[in-house]
Amino acid sequence: MTAASTVFESDIPGLSLIHRGKVRDVYEVDEKRLLLVATDRISAFDCILPTLIPHKGKVLTQLSQFWFDMLAGVVDNHVITTDLDRMPEPIRGVESLRGRSTLVRRTEVFPTECVVRGYLEGSGWKDYKATGKTSGHDLPKSLQQCDRLFDPIFTPATKAATGHDENITGLEFKNIVGAETAALLKSTSLKIYKTAAAYALTKGIIIADTKFEFGRDGDGNILLIDEVLTPDSSRFWDAKTYEPGHAQPSFDKQFVREYLETLDWDKTPPAPPLPDEIAEATSARYLEAYRLLTGSELTQ
Ligand SMILES: Nc1ncnc2c1ncn2[C@@H]1O[C@H](COP(=O)(O)OP(=O)(O)OP(=O)(O)O)[C@@H](O)[C@H]1O
Ligand SMILES: [Mg+2]
Repeated sequence: MTAASTVFESDIPGLSLIHRGKVRDVYEVDEKRLLLVATDRISAFDCILPTLIPHKGKVLTQLSQFWFDMLAGVVDNHVITTDLDRMPEPIRGVESLRGRSTLVRRTEVFPTECVVRGYLEGSGWKDYKATGKTSGHDLPKSLQQCDRLFDPIFTPATKAATGHDENITGLEFKNIVGAETAALLKSTSLKIYKTAAAYALTKGIIIADTKFEFGRDGDGNILLIDEVLTPDSSRFWDAKTYEPGHAQPSFDKQFVREYLETLDWDKTPPAPPLPDEIAEATSARYLEAYRLLTGSELTQ
């Protein structure tokens, strides 16, 4: 593993890029398969920064893989392989993709984000402050910011093509995916969150909330897709310093946010670059999250 192996935009001659997200690049392999490439890009305040975070894409890829394996008894997933040597040409020959690429079964994606919250922060906290509820869930009175919820709640959202995802009610969710699928996605999401959050806590990390995506493959199977339980799809907090009543430091992006707050930047693109020491410290946090959660060092 070398720091030189950073990737801003992947390029695979001979494959068509079908989507470039803030962090991931998605290629079509064939009718049934996609390749997800996690780059080292980082976003903050919804803007992609021009600075790379060494190893970040590898952490996202290999941490997702760790969870997919751990949760295999709970939910089927889209992974075919993350081993570059088992991937078809022309992917196999592109060494810069090693460790950061996932060959997956292509699915028809449900157009909803399956969000689970075990703690009250973000849009859940905002909603509670304004209405006393979060996405229609009755919660105890006088909860504080970042308080742990007695029972995790399912708060689905629409996938907005641009801008922020919008929270929807349980009824809207049912209308979009159908009643039977809605019940399945909800119970599966809660089960995954509870399993993962309980495990993470034993490793010193609070998974405050997280977002899952599901899709249906050509044979009608519902699969867990995308990335799972990474710092990019979840709020990770350090259990040692957790204290409700105010915002928590973000496990991974705290240095980035604090640095950007010192600048006179209006949080619209183009975002300013990060100093090397901030990028390095952030990289170390991603690697630490991986090490704490999996118990091993990132190897490839
Ligand atoms: N198995 C799958 N089948 C079909 N689509 C998939 C599959 N797995 C993931 N995807 C899709 O791949 C896309 C990944 O791109 P996405 O825009 O989320 O990238 P990102 O880097 O996470 O950026 P952003 O921060 O903007 O979300 C998503 O639209 C997701 O729904
Ligand atoms: Mg995404």
